[in-house]
Amino acid sequence: MTQQDAQASEPERGELEESIGREQRSKPWKAYLEAELGFRNHWYPAFFGAELKAGVGDDRQGILAAVRSETICGEQILFRRVGDQVFAIQDRCVHRGVKLSARPECFTAETVTCWLHGFTYDVRTGEVVTILTDPESPLIGKLRARSYPVAERAGIVWVYIGDGDPPPLAWDVQPGLFDDDLAVYPHGFSGVVKSNWRLGVENGWDGTHLYLHRHSKLLATIRRPIPLGEPPSREGFQWQEDAAGPKGIYLARRRGMGRPFWESNIGAVTISAPLKPTDPDTLSAPMIISVWLPAGLKVDPFPTPDIIHFEWYVPIDERSHKYIITWGRRVMDETQRQQFFGEADEIWSDLVPHGFNHDDVFAREAMEPFYAGDGWQKEHLMGADIMLTQWRKLATRHHRGIQRRGLV
Ligand code: FES
Ligand SMILES: [Fe+2]
Repeated sequence: MTQQDAQASEPERGELEESIGREQRSKPWKAYLEAELGFRNHWYPAFFGAELKAGVGDDRQGILAAVRSETICGEQILFRRVGDQVFAIQDRCVHRGVKLSARPECFTAETVTCWLHGFTYDVRTGEVVTILTDPESPLIGKLRARSYPVAERAGIVWVYIGDGDPPPLAWDVQPGLFDDDLAVYPHGFSGVVKSNWRLGVENGWDGTHLYLHRHSKLLATIRRPIPLGEPPSREGFQWQEDAAGPKGIYLARRRGMGRPFWESNIGAVTISAPLKPTDPDTLSAPMIISVWLPAGLKVDPFPTPDIIHFEWYVPIDERSHKYIITWGRRVMDETQRQQFFGEADEIWSDLVPHGFNHDDVFAREAMEPFYAGDGWQKEHLMGADIMLTQWRKLATRHHRGIQRRGLV
């Protein structure tokens, strides 16, 4: 870990604003600006494993759940569970290009057949194993659909979008998620947000956007004030950039650091957050927020002192991303694990996405028209936006490639 350039004290704020202005003009995050479709050669979470069952049948038998189709970084991918393993091939027939998932036909445990002329693929390899309408075709055994490396860990199915041998999955995952004693809720939230994926990451990581959440039902329910709109400029960022490991940035919020934005004024009018810290100890527990390549965030702890919040902003295409949220809690045994899952079913799976993060979805979609145009050139960042510029620089330094249309 290395300490980075974010130790500004109050008198240095002017300098900070100036340096951000300089950076904005010179754009040391050029690659990031080009990554409209995401970064290539990375692992992405695709969906929760519980959302895909093994099965045999076709759509007329109502067995649609036997496959799952996802578009990730612009690539259409079909997932199928064979035994206890998930496999993925391109969701595009090599014959005439239709989506296999448009009418999935799974006649055997390990195949998917194209509904139009019967090209049949082994989903473990992508190989065309027969063509039902031309069983003597010399193309059989020769043609193959692109297949994708897949892993299932922590109740999530992950897919590698890229070329060549993938790096270890753990290099593209927030630290801690795969810890043996961490129970990870297997039925978290996922939904499509109509904004570019980068607006998702930046919204989640942005320290001052918490202002937006000041009326959230979640905060009223947990009665735990969080530093609403605290400018992060007084704190140090810690970059995690070990060659063999995940690449990310930590920012710890601690009592007495920064200026919680509970109250501010416009002339004689005071604007304040409904929930304020009455006991200084409510602010004493550090909340460590961190952002990770290729597109993940971790908030430890959140929303309660014993829960770790994880979320991802997986690029679908240039104008939308899949928002995935789940939670983890350290447990000693199976009873505690089940207790946590029950609590997550009852409280967090509704309250967090709908009592808090709906504001984030609203914000990202509201930002999209500006950034879909020339917003990246026209924005005017403030000093506290050093959080955003740190992330842009980290992503530019450590991404493994830029995803483009037409690569597959
Ligand atoms: S388009 Fe799929 S078999 Fe012809
Ligand atoms: Fe938020």
